[in-house]
Amino acid sequence: MSLDADFALKPHERLAAFLESDMACVNSLIRERMASKHAPRIPEVTAHLIEAGGKRLRPMLTLAAARMLGYDGDNHLRLAATVEFIHTATLLHDDVVDESAQRRGRPTANLLWDNKSSVLVGDYLFARSFQLMTETGSLDVLRILSHAAATIAEGEVLQLTAAANLETTEDIYLQVVRGKTAALFAAACEVGGVIADAPQIEVTALHTYGDALGVAFQIADDLLDYGGDASATGKNIGDDFRERKLTLPVIKAIAKADDDERIFWKRTIEKGDQQDGDLDHALALIAKHETMAATREDALFWTAKAKEAMDILPEHPVKEMLSDLADYVVARIA
Ligand code: IPE
Ligand code: IPE
Ligand code: MG
Ligand code: MG
Repeated sequence: MSLDADFALKPHERLAAFLESDMACVNSLIRERMASKHAPRIPEVTAHLIEAGGKRLRPMLTLAAARMLGYDGDNHLRLAATVEFIHTATLLHDDVVDESAQRRGRPTANLLWDNKSSVLVGDYLFARSFQLMTETGSLDVLRILSHAAATIAEGEVLQLTAAANLETTEDIYLQVVRGKTAALFAAACEVGGVIADAPQIEVTALHTYGDALGVAFQIADDLLDYGGDASATGKNIGDDFRERKLTLPVIKAIAKADDDERIFWKRTIEKGDQQDGDLDHALALIAKHETMAATREDALFWTAKAKEAMDILPEHPVKEMLSDLADYVVARIA
C-alpha cells in the first residue's frame, strides 16, 4: 500500500492493514467455530451477523497489544476470536433487550428470525468463546475474560433498572458504560499483554487504555444515537429515546430543564408515553442546552485518559495507531 493511501485510512483501518494476516486467521477461526453440526439455525444466525462485518475493533485491540509487547506465538489469535465471540453474543442479546431492528446495516436477527433464536444463539457463542479461551491454557486469561463477561451483563442489568428513571445521575451512567462496553475493551487489551507475558505495569496500562477507550467509544455511540446517520452507523437513530435510556445528552438536558421541559421528559422517558414528533422535540431541547457539545467534551476527557495510559508502553508502530484510535472514536462525532 502506498504512503498516500495509508494516510487516507482511518486509524482502525490502519490497524486492520497492519494486522491483516493475523486478522485473516482470526476471521477463519471465527468462521470455523461459529459452525454447528447439529443445529442449522446457529450458522444461519451467526453468518448473518458475522458476515455483515462490524469494525472488529476488539479483536484488533487484542492482536495489537500482543504484537506491541513482542508476542510471537499463536494464542493471541484464539483470544482475539474469543473477544469477538463475546462481543457478538452480547449484540445478539442486546438487540433483543433493546428491541432494535437494525445492526451492521442489516435487519437484526431478532427481526429476521425471533427473540428465542437470538438468545439461544447468543448463549451458544458465549459457550464457544469459553471453549476457545481455555485452549490457551492460561488461567489468567480465563480470569480476565470471565470477569469481563460478568461485568458486561452487570452493566446491561444496571442500565435496565436505571432506564426510565429521571433521577439517573452521570455517575450511574458511567457505571453502566464501564460495565456494558468498557469492560470488554479493557479485557481485550489486557489479555494481549498477558499472553505476551508483559510486566504487570504494562498489563495494567493496557487495561486502563482499554477502559478509557471503551468509555469514550460508548459516549460517542450514545451521541450518534441522537445526532448520527443510520447509513453510517448501520443502526437506527432514536433507539435510546424510544427505549427510555438515560444517556449523557439527555441526563445533561434534564439537569437544565425548566418546568415545561421537565413535564416533557416525565411524559416521554418516565411514563414512556411517546408520540410522533417527540424525538424531534427531544433533539430541540438537546440543541437548546448544547448538551451534545458538553457530552463530546466528556468523551474527549476519556480519550485523553486513554492516550495518557499508553505513555509507559514501549515504542512500536502499533502504539501510535492505538493512540490515533482513541482520537478517532471521538472524531467520528465531530
Ligand atoms: C456496538 O459496538 C456496541 C457498542 C458498544 C456501542 P461496535 O460499534 O464496535 O459494533 P460493530 O462490531 O462494529 O458492529
Ligand atoms: C452496547 O449497548 C453494549 C452491549 C452491546 C453490551 P448499546 O445498546 O448502547 O449498543 P447499540 O447501540 O445497540 O450498539
Ligand atoms: Mg442496543
Ligand atoms: Mg443496549
